[in-house]
Amino acid sequence: MNHEDTLLDYTKKRFANDASGHDFYHTFRVYRMAMKIAKIEKTCDEEIIMFASLLHDVDDVKLFQTKNYSNARNAIRRCGLSHEKEERIIQIIKEVSFRGRDSLTPSSMEGKIVQDADRLDAIGALGIARAFAYGGAHERKLYDPNEKPMFEMDEKTYRNHKGNTINHFYEKLLLIPDLLNTETAKEIAKKRNDFMKEFLQEFFLEWEGKQ
Ligand code: ADP
Ligand code: NI
Repeated sequence: MNHEDTLLDYTKKRFANDASGHDFYHTFRVYRMAMKIAKIEKTCDEEIIMFASLLHDVDDVKLFQTKNYSNARNAIRRCGLSHEKEERIIQIIKEVSFRGRDSLTPSSMEGKIVQDADRLDAIGALGIARAFAYGGAHERKLYDPNEKPMFEMDEKTYRNHKGNTINHFYEKLLLIPDLLNTETAKEIAKKRNDFMKEFLQEFFLEWEGKQ
């Protein structure tokens, strides 16, 4: 099997039963989007992007209790990549995740692209669907007008925060377009962001009984 098929097979198994917005198709969309951005941005190593995007969530602390990125490392080793490449891929996975105001700007072009692809999957119609799936899986309320969004959370506060899902739009999702690294991703984000804003307008009209 080539590396792409090996990794797709592996992630399919890893995420088989997830219903919190991290299913296999999330990983697959991030991979596809990262490759699309890579082809436009050009100056990057597509093999590293393929490994990092397909493995970016296999050691996510919310889903797995692994140490030192062992799931990703084992998958990379099974494909026989060099130690140098393994470290480049792991570095991207370490830097990818949203951590409130402690989020990192990836140190490599490949990392910037994978982070953009992951963040694009958290906005737009898919982002709305994933946010409510996550909210349901974590027993969060849809919305509560008595709870105000929290801004500028540090990583610990962000991880422990149990806010309602509509607030998550103000705490993360609507901030994403300004946090993207590449021009290609910023362009793709525009329509997705407009769609989320439209959804929120409609949501509040219906909530308030005006529609
Ligand atoms: P990242 O991929 O940057 O690590 P997460 O794993 O935290 O981001 O989020 C995965 C998905 O779950 C995203 O679509 C995200 O917006 C959503 N999500 C995360 N936290 C919440 C929350 N508190 N409420 C609703 N959705 C959330
Ligand atoms: Ni992800």
